[in-house]
Amino acid sequence: MDKQKAWRRLEDTAQKDANLHLKGLLMQPGRFEQFSFRHDEILLDLSRQRLTSEVLDQLLSLAGSCHLDRWIDDLFSGAPVNQTERRPALHTALRYPPQHAFNLDGRDINSDVQSALSAMEVLVNQLHKQQWRGFSGEPIDTLVNIGVGGSDLGPMMVCHALEEFQPPRARAIQTHFISSMDGSQLSSLLQHLDPERTLFIVSSKSFTTADTLANAATARDWLKQASHMPEDLLLKRHFVGITACPDKAFEWGLAKENLLHFWDWVGGRYSLWSTIGFSIAVRIGMKGFRALLDGAWRMDEHFRHADWSQNLPVLLALTEIWNINFQHIHAHAILPYDGRLAHLPAYLEQLEMESNGKSVDRCGQPVSHRTCPVLWGEIGPNAQHAFYQLLHQGSEPVMCDFIVAASRYGKSSESLQSQHRLTLANCLAQARVLALGDDAIDQSSASPWQHYAGNQPSTLLLLDQLSPATLGALIALYEHKVFVQSVIWDINPFDQWGVELGKQMANTLLPHIGQAPSPGAFDKATDGLLAELYRVNQE
Ligand code: F6P
Repeated sequence: MDKQKAWRRLEDTAQKDANLHLKGLLMQPGRFEQFSFRHDEILLDLSRQRLTSEVLDQLLSLAGSCHLDRWIDDLFSGAPVNQTERRPALHTALRYPPQHAFNLDGRDINSDVQSALSAMEVLVNQLHKQQWRGFSGEPIDTLVNIGVGGSDLGPMMVCHALEEFQPPRARAIQTHFISSMDGSQLSSLLQHLDPERTLFIVSSKSFTTADTLANAATARDWLKQASHMPEDLLLKRHFVGITACPDKAFEWGLAKENLLHFWDWVGGRYSLWSTIGFSIAVRIGMKGFRALLDGAWRMDEHFRHADWSQNLPVLLALTEIWNINFQHIHAHAILPYDGRLAHLPAYLEQLEMESNGKSVDRCGQPVSHRTCPVLWGEIGPNAQHAFYQLLHQGSEPVMCDFIVAASRYGKSSESLQSQHRLTLANCLAQARVLALGDDAIDQSSASPWQHYAGNQPSTLLLLDQLSPATLGALIALYEHKVFVQSVIWDINPFDQWGVELGKQMANTLLPHIGQAPSPGAFDKATDGLLAELYRVNQE
């Protein structure tokens, strides 16, 4: 079947089933068994989605009509799937087991990957053994990762999520993440840091990002003021660079031996698996980092080889395609019921919206359908007291992802165990009320403002527990979901041209900030604001 036909068939089905409500679907015998799927320690529960077996079959045909099988082969084999930048997107090669050779342009890139991991391990061990010393001979006990976007969000999210997996020797090391361009995060942090014991990790794939370089320069000045030692010595003892452009980092002043590399075939938002994950490896040790990679690798294998009818990334992607393109739902809430996953929503906002926030297809033609929805999120229980009102009674259809661990806290206190049970009860309750509305509890006599319409679809991702391996698998699941959706929409998920114009414009505007106004230089609003900035700063 061709794509147009498969698409039209889904449109017809959506029209035919327009009045289907989750209330009815959730009464069907075997509903949970039919629409929940497992891989290793992750259960994907789609039973609260507006799916029927007919819809699922038609979605699977749609995937076939888009040649998803060929695209998956291309992704994993290193074909230039990022065609606008003429390169492959090989983040999956970062998670190959050590013995697994992978040939790209006549070179075994897995041996490069393993060498980079070994170089990273040397630095991690030096830090853990307190052998890395600052300018005064004191051991380093504080890391500050300076980066933005993919050079910040992934490592920060994972470090926070896996804090309790720290080996004892890592506990003496504090890690901070700095990204804000205005220097406000950095300046308030520096007030509490000891320059003799602080190591800055300048993380930037391109090593040209203005935000990161500005923060790195401020950090360098702070050290210079604190020590009066020669700059090259300070940079050698207190700065590590992580980049795909080592020449630029060297030019900036970083010592060659303090550079960790990765490659231009790793997209920024897919880079936490590379040496960009250095802060993760310091936090959870190399063993933990390798477990994270292994979890992702096992999800890669599942994605590549499992039948699509049981394939978690494919099923999740297609379900959302159904919501976005056939149910007209254009808002997506990410709701982890676990404080450790506090930064997951921000991480997924970049992963999904920077990847699939596109409106031209691979041939440069306007797409004729909606693509990535607006994503946002928050720790679920916190969001219950903030924006769930809109989910339950607003006028906007929203699809939700609930993410929760089945078990927590091992042998810890009864009060923490009971907090986990409380959290699970809230997660299940919210998913149920969103789906069933008033029918979740008999609300027949309720007033209009107590009416819950329900029928808001949600996915529940249940991890047996949160661990390096399950988190690795969860992130890889989302990465592959994004890829499958890009195939259905026929867009390139691996470039991000949309962010470039703003950067160029900022460079053009910079010399005008704080200068006497020159009317007509820009549009009326920008001219007006430049004049206002000048006036306020003159006062
Ligand atoms: O401007 C967007 C972007 O290029 C992201 O794709 C990337 O993750 C981020 O900036 C940071 O880039 P870099 O790692 O090159 O500093």
